[in-house]
Amino acid sequence: MSIKTATLQGVCTIEIARPEKKNALTVAMYQAMADALVAAREDAVVRAVLITGQPGIFTSGNDIEDFMARPPGQGSDGMDSPVFRFMRALVECDKPVVAAVTGAAIGIGSTMLLHCDFVYVSDEARLAMPFTSLGLVPEFGSSLIVPQLMGSRRAAEKLLLGDPFTAEQAVECGIASAVLPAGEVVNHARRVAERFNALPPGAVRESKQLMRAPHQELLLKTIATEAALFAKRLRSPEAMEAFQAFFQKRKPDFSKF
Ligand code: COA
Repeated sequence: MSIKTATLQGVCTIEIARPEKKNALTVAMYQAMADALVAAREDAVVRAVLITGQPGIFTSGNDIEDFMARPPGQGSDGMDSPVFRFMRALVECDKPVVAAVTGAAIGIGSTMLLHCDFVYVSDEARLAMPFTSLGLVPEFGSSLIVPQLMGSRRAAEKLLLGDPFTAEQAVECGIASAVLPAGEVVNHARRVAERFNALPPGAVRESKQLMRAPHQELLLKTIATEAALFAKRLRSPEAMEAFQAFFQKRKPDFSKF
């Protein structure tokens, strides 16, 4: 199993642990993360959730091979597929979620951060949302939240060009809370998560619900709209060229489209 979960001192840690594939997320891993988030929400012992990766890599996003074999949002499972269960579980988690971004955060590795309450990033991490260069469209509500967070100019650089950005830039544009030295990011994030042991859980939960409520309906609608387009684009010749180029370790050629 490439997702490790453990609850210690009121904090449920969800650790992405597939370093040999740069923590790329498979259907089984989405399922495990969705289950862990739902369980954490229901477990009174859990006061906060910590999502973390491996030294040097948070996650390289969707596993491209798995994606091609079993594209999400298709067939009978549709919005009940593991990736959408994970998205819904994170959006609806009413306990504080802290992310320790231990290294590169690509694709959904970056967009999942938009739904965490505290995001601490290693000074060595690079983030990117390279959906267009993969022939895809933004997912996980990023087409809504990224422009809201940083304005349409900087959003265009990140979502249309897919430009990578540093930990400092992630703080500057509002995606991250703070930059930490690589060796301290997990401990710092854990200490923040543990602070919720000393706070009344009902007040925290209802405060988070209030903060999220005005946007929740639009966010879930946007996630569904993006998902339909994303599923269609996964079958597009543009995406096929991008995925094949990735595995053939060459630059994609979009000149023929
Ligand atoms: N899906 C499937 N496999 C992936 C992957 C992904 N998202 N990201 C990395 N891997 C695999 C590579 O194919 C490689 O496998 P191999 O050893 O069998 O050849 C292994 O993980 C190591 O990756 P590699 O690219 O050699 O490492 P790197 O240190 O040079 O680069 C990244 C790391 C994360 C920058 C690079 O792997 C990358 O850009 N990955 C794709 C990210 C992406 O486009 N994600 C969005 C998906 S929607």
